[in-house]
Amino acid sequence: MGSSIKKAVIPAAGLGTRFLPVTRSVSKVMLPVFNIPTIDFAVAELKKSGINSVAIVVSTLNYDIQKYFESASDMQIEFILQKEPNGLGDAILQSEKWVDGESFCVILPDDLIIGETSTIEQMISIHSSNNTAVLALKSVEDERVPFLGIVESQQIDISTHRIIKCVEKPKLEDAPSNLAIIGRYIFTNDIFKYIKQTTKGALGEIQITDAINAQATEKDVYGYQFPEEHFDTGNPSGLLEASIGYALKHPEKAPGLIRFIKSLNL
Ligand code: UTP
Repeated sequence: MGSSIKKAVIPAAGLGTRFLPVTRSVSKVMLPVFNIPTIDFAVAELKKSGINSVAIVVSTLNYDIQKYFESASDMQIEFILQKEPNGLGDAILQSEKWVDGESFCVILPDDLIIGETSTIEQMISIHSSNNTAVLALKSVEDERVPFLGIVESQQIDISTHRIIKCVEKPKLEDAPSNLAIIGRYIFTNDIFKYIKQTTKGALGEIQITDAINAQATEKDVYGYQFPEEHFDTGNPSGLLEASIGYALKHPEKAPGLIRFIKSLNL
């Protein structure tokens, strides 16, 4: 595939506090959906989309991630250190030198997308036509709105939006819509300029949403509302749901699981 995007960044240096105590000694992205670490899904998704050059942003605690990818010979995987967990915006900023002036993609392993078509490939195609940043969007239930980045947007066609602004974790009554930013982004290289202009927000973290918001006030930023199934594996219940959803799609895993669920007489 002659994609305009050659490089991807996977931020994996967060503390994973919602998974304590296991994240005292295991990186959050090494926790499995069924038997596969969530970060492996992210890398496989990139490989399928023709992106072989990947930087994983890690902390000094994430040796298990490096060990896991030691023998991954078909992908070029670099590890970039984020010294302090200063937020997703700061994690992405650490990759500036490695990205080296190009547009690039970011995948968050916490967001598992399962489907026939590739969300990333659709997003790359929107980027190629418009030369803009592209965010993955999904309509979410009201109760999830206060935990996510939410956009105000103008719909262009059935799946494409122009972003007017984004708000990180709004109260439901203040939210401009139910359209949430899900962890797939195509960024133009000037995102680094906007991250550097971003001051630390609540929790003392540099939020990528604030940088995107600043970019969207000055130039076009697009959103792609993807149809594929999405699981939020960033919390224990979501990870369990993803394991069940994944197993149910596999003919050799599904029957035993269905039998077990039926035996619970819910
Ligand atoms: P999250 O905020 O969901 O991850 O960040 P977290 O901080 O690890 O989780 P909790 O809230 O403590 O449970 C989304 C993504 O950004 C990365 C995380 O690893 C995750 O992939 N991240 C976050 C960083 O790489 N560095 C940071 O400083 C913060």
